[in-house]
Amino acid sequence: MKYGYFDDPNREYVITTPETPLPWINYLGNDGFYGLISNTAGGYDFYRDAKLRRITRFRYNNVPNDFGGRMYYIKDGDTVWSPAFLPAGTALDSYECRHGMGYTTFTSVKNSVEAKLTAFVPLGDSCELNMLDLVNNSGETKELTVFSCIEWCLWNAVDDANNYQRNLSIGELEVIGSTIYHKTEYRERRNHYAFFTVNTDVAGFDTDRDTFLGARRFWNDPVVVENGKSGDSVASGWYPIASHSIKVKLAPGEKKSFIFQLGYVEVDRDKKWESKGVINKAPAKALIEKYNSEAACDKAFADLAAYWSNLLSIYHLESGNDKLNRMVNIWHQYQCMVTFNMSRSASYWETGTGRGMGFRDSCQDLLGFMHLVPDRARARIIDIASIQFENGSTYHQYQPLTKRGNADIGGGFNDDPLWLVACTCAYIRETGDFTILDHPTPFNNVEGSEKPLLEHLRRSVNFTINNKGPHGLPLIGRADWNDCLNLNCFSYEPGESFQTFGPSEGPVAESVFIAGMFVKYGLEYADLCDHIGLADEAATIRNEVNNVKTATEQFGWDGEWFVRAYDANGNKVGSDECEEGKIFIEPQGFCTMAGIGQEKGYGRKALDSVKKYLVNDYGVEILAPCYTTYHVELGEISSYPPGYKENGAIFTHNNPWVSVAATVIGDGDMAFDIYKRSCPAFLEDVSEIHRTEPYVYSQMIAGRSAPRYGEAKNSFLTGTAAWAFVDISQAILGITPTLDGLSVKPCLPADLDDYTVTRRYRGCEYHIHVLKDPAKKGLYVDGTATEGNLIPINDASEIEVEYYI
Ligand code: BGC
Repeated sequence: MKYGYFDDPNREYVITTPETPLPWINYLGNDGFYGLISNTAGGYDFYRDAKLRRITRFRYNNVPNDFGGRMYYIKDGDTVWSPAFLPAGTALDSYECRHGMGYTTFTSVKNSVEAKLTAFVPLGDSCELNMLDLVNNSGETKELTVFSCIEWCLWNAVDDANNYQRNLSIGELEVIGSTIYHKTEYRERRNHYAFFTVNTDVAGFDTDRDTFLGARRFWNDPVVVENGKSGDSVASGWYPIASHSIKVKLAPGEKKSFIFQLGYVEVDRDKKWESKGVINKAPAKALIEKYNSEAACDKAFADLAAYWSNLLSIYHLESGNDKLNRMVNIWHQYQCMVTFNMSRSASYWETGTGRGMGFRDSCQDLLGFMHLVPDRARARIIDIASIQFENGSTYHQYQPLTKRGNADIGGGFNDDPLWLVACTCAYIRETGDFTILDHPTPFNNVEGSEKPLLEHLRRSVNFTINNKGPHGLPLIGRADWNDCLNLNCFSYEPGESFQTFGPSEGPVAESVFIAGMFVKYGLEYADLCDHIGLADEAATIRNEVNNVKTATEQFGWDGEWFVRAYDANGNKVGSDECEEGKIFIEPQGFCTMAGIGQEKGYGRKALDSVKKYLVNDYGVEILAPCYTTYHVELGEISSYPPGYKENGAIFTHNNPWVSVAATVIGDGDMAFDIYKRSCPAFLEDVSEIHRTEPYVYSQMIAGRSAPRYGEAKNSFLTGTAAWAFVDISQAILGITPTLDGLSVKPCLPADLDDYTVTRRYRGCEYHIHVLKDPAKKGLYVDGTATEGNLIPINDASEIEVEYYI
């Protein structure tokens, strides 16, 4: 069953009912000011950091979970309705929500009034615009009252939900004409405020929530709306909001438009005040002025569309498969932008108050983002590397606003450093910009500790070399990619963090997964060394890689698949010897990608075992059989009920590893089959089972052992976005950046026919036609047969390429 459809030419998903199984959301904003918006206009806004600069409030565990956000009420006689269905919740005569690239529109009709609400964040400015168009399609004049409402968050989203004894006394606002300024805490240390305005005279306003709602009322029927008249309340403490009321008279056929703007401004500290207690409004006024006309907003909207057209033209596929085209050309890349911006911080399921930017998460997000905005990727790599410790290990997370490592969780996740190598090498392959390696980059953000970025990579690689266990395999530390496989934790008390309890430097527990990573990324680092004239270092690293490869073949191979790890007692995890958790997905994917045991056919066997034990209708499960009891020696993984999360769900992030691995052993059918199983557009028809958005990946899909097999959770912020795009664009379709140029090496399934990829790469536009014609087999660059798979770099601005299979 579907709740909408894809509109590919417009790059939108069109939702045709407000009653989706869960809120289906979208992101507004690309760089700084962000808004989350659901298909009923719920959500929240923030500036850079969803914890420290939260602009509008979001209620966790709310029932229903989607009230709030941008609330608009249209009072038409006794009927009160909302263009996005909520908050009024009145049945609409028609409803449509379109989630597009950085914007969402709602078009709805009630009693012959049509409303169109368009929400977006204009490029380069810190505000969200809501354009509301109203058309009277009836034969009579309509006298409507439109109410707006947003609820302010008192900036720090954690304090906002905790510290009521303070919060309920600190709310402060100023109201000037149609603009409501939120200035809580500005009187003391803050130099930023927010405002909500509309480009017309208002009939009234409210800034005090209780006045607006009335006693014991909910957002669906505020007393002020029922009475058709604002209370003109000015909040003092308690719960500040911003609401306008506007009288709108519409003759038959008449249309009127309003622009609401939610803005955020920062003011120089020495220019904070206009006069005592009156905030400096100059920057806000400039922003208000800029977007106070329809023409200005239309232009900003068109600029946003052009921005996305340009980004999405960097990698464009034309194939005979519509679902594939829409994922590759639109939604994979869009989700990569979102995960780049958010890491795992702010969604409907990630509260934005917790983990900030993850080290390994952000490094992997970059893999799918480099080609879109390389300059931002470069800056991000430096930010990430700056939280690394001198010994090569690193903080696990950092706060986007301060860019400082998060001391609550600390470090000790031994896969982290290698991801820095992965993303930096990928950046250089994309851009050819070796200068990034010279960039002076601090350790732990300590001034004076700067070393060239190359030194950070070196320390990353050496961290693994210097931290190996009894079998010569890398020590796991607190956890590797699987945050819930905590082999050094041993927690018996509820509430203890599985990630931070216990010694991180356990000297025994080893990870075969990190071994796979080391082989793969160690070799990439060695290639990089060769390219910059460090042949000796390259040779040393290749030698180290060989040692780990040998150790993995000897101790990391179980006979039919790769072992997952050794626990702190030296027992195998993910082996046929185990009662539960006999096989894990991660090492099958990564060790095969790394080519470990290739000559012995380990990859083929490992992937056959994946098929046999882990593949289900919606993807590949993370392990089998699931743990049915708590294992203190394994940690959080065994705390989940069977079939959920890391205990046997399809943890979608690692599915592309298996798919890429299949291409490494030349099995295009398996690669594409795995790709399709968990791919959202391919699951659209079972949306009532899948339940999350059919246009983006979710973190997990419940596995066969779960009562709700097939149900997805935690949509949008997952490393799957980047890896799925790498998988399909590079491994399957085969258009891969290398240090020396673009390579064409598809690994195709039988059911994918000829296709064309347009790829902008290092200043040149490549038109690559992949054709199944064994008679011609090989690569032709501008008509000339070319040895191998690499298109030599030259100065041309456009190149025609044919690749015959
Ligand atoms: C984390 C990742 C981790 C994954 C598997 C996600 O929630 O953000 O860093 O690799 O879970 O445990």
